[in-house]
Amino acid sequence: MYLTPAGCDVSLVIEAVTRAMRTDRVTELAAALAETARRGALDDPGLFPPPSAGGYARRSIWRDPQGRYVVLGMTWAPGQGSPLHDHGGLFGAEIVVSGLMRERSFRLVDRDPDGRHLFTPERETLHGRGSIGTLIPPLEYHEFGNAGGEVAHTVHVYAGDLDRCTVFEREAGGWWRPSSIGLRCDG
Ligand SMILES: [Fe+2]
Repeated sequence: MYLTPAGCDVSLVIEAVTRAMRTDRVTELAAALAETARRGALDDPGLFPPPSAGGYARRSIWRDPQGRYVVLGMTWAPGQGSPLHDHGGLFGAEIVVSGLMRERSFRLVDRDPDGRHLFTPERETLHGRGSIGTLIPPLEYHEFGNAGGEVAHTVHVYAGDLDRCTVFEREAGGWWRPSSIGLRCDG
């Protein structure tokens, strides 16, 4: 049996994700998340941290002991969202468990000698319950946030020990300034 630090039985999730990650295919990962969601294995409220007034909150659900992947639960109060960010070059998948999320994807076009990145907006997608987004570097740059009036919950799986990523702050002319940040979990 696989128990999270909060005491949730996540055996179904971990067995399905571990099988999928052995294939090294994001489509298999997305199918595993879809199947576990269909079976109700992502509905345990203990997978998610309480909402935080300071921004969206993360909880570590599972960290593969061999470092092949991490599973995170996230809680988004209405209006909360991430800045434009990457995923440390890791592929991954993100599923909406409850609520309504908006994803804005960006394509990296250029970098300047000052380290700034030039992005063009690609598409904007609304994700309801059960909707899955995939990230395959270099197609991994996006903003993600709660587009609804209720608290939203999402589950994220990344193909490695994602403890740092890059966030981008918008400047003039489509240029964005990167900064590397450590990813904390809220409990
Ligand atoms: Fe993301």
